[in-house]
Amino acid sequence: MSRRSVLAGTGIVGGSLLAGAGCGDAPPPSFYGVHQSGITTPVLPFLQIAGFDVVAKDRAGLVELLRTWTRAAAELTSGAGAGTTVTFGFGPGLFAEGRFGLAARRPAELAELPSFAGESLDRAAGGGDLCVQICARHPTTAHDAVRALVSAGRAGAVLRWRQVGFRDEGDAADPVGLFGFRDGTANLDLTRQEEQAEHLWVSDGPGWLHGGTYLVVRRIRLLLDTWDRTDVPTQEAVIGRRRDSNDRLELPASHARLASPEANGGVKLLRRSYSYDAGADPNGLIDAGLIFICFQRDPQRQFAAVQRRLVANDPLKGFSQHLASGVFACPPGVRRGSWIGAGLLGPGSGQ
Ligand code: HEM
Repeated sequence: MSRRSVLAGTGIVGGSLLAGAGCGDAPPPSFYGVHQSGITTPVLPFLQIAGFDVVAKDRAGLVELLRTWTRAAAELTSGAGAGTTVTFGFGPGLFAEGRFGLAARRPAELAELPSFAGESLDRAAGGGDLCVQICARHPTTAHDAVRALVSAGRAGAVLRWRQVGFRDEGDAADPVGLFGFRDGTANLDLTRQEEQAEHLWVSDGPGWLHGGTYLVVRRIRLLLDTWDRTDVPTQEAVIGRRRDSNDRLELPASHARLASPEANGGVKLLRRSYSYDAGADPNGLIDAGLIFICFQRDPQRQFAAVQRRLVANDPLKGFSQHLASGVFACPPGVRRGSWIGAGLLGPGSGQ
């Protein structure tokens, strides 16, 4: 199969996808590499993130799916899609006993997240065996890409849930979110390799995940009608920063303080969150919020520990509601000629 035919076969060939795909066969710089893209690469303004249930009957079917998705992703991130990132993750269910023979290779850290006090999650809107995160410069590019992957993978995986996000361009690292405050300011410092080694990349446990990381995604509705009736000094005390200057306020009971490494035994997360906008709810309230996404080397010790602290004391809990959740192990990047997950499932993977 030629690179071009992967998507041509799906019927989604119009628009932006294949334009320019014939301009030489040089693989896009953003897809292949030591690590997957979409983690430490600059955050792009449009997001599609989706969870899938694997329906392939056996290991060969799963391998075929991952090979097909790898070819499709390489194509989607080249030509007119250059710059787009595609990030794949494996959910705990993929490693279940008696499924694909992977139980012995599940890292201990890859387990469903614990339930947190006060949350009421829609199970069907989260979880799943596989996750695909797509970040793009244009909304249609992101949409076409996820659609192409759904279509190309149809024989092996069915779409379980999908979320669509956006964030402002420009000040890419910490754009203003729906609450009117900058989000992403005090993030993992990606200019420091030792921060990445300590908090982001897996370097222990099963070898297939070395150079990989874990993705946690949460759909968090923001109660904007309530927030908008709250005065700015109160909002600032909840967040722990000034709205206009973004200066820190040293308030121990604020969100920023409770989530900080100082309050969590040094734990840090790499946050790459987006906003979502889903219209109105039946009560005439605005339905919108945060697609919270973070990467870390141990979701239990990092995300879950911070979240446990937040559900106990975070003043933001009066203004938000967690609706859906997922945790996925993102394998290391793909070598040219190889495919995503080859270290787990390919020849020489120890199976
Ligand atoms: C309810 C939805 C949330 C909103 C609207 C929100 C918003 C914010 C804002 C505005 C900041 C300050 C600016 C910054 O440093 O980025 C912040 C900081 C932070 N948030 Fe959140 N956040 C939310 C949920 C979460 C969750 C679920 C976690 C992790 C479990 C989290 C972890 C953090 C961390 C680690 C910081 C940086 C703290 C520091 O070191 O100063 N946030 N958040």
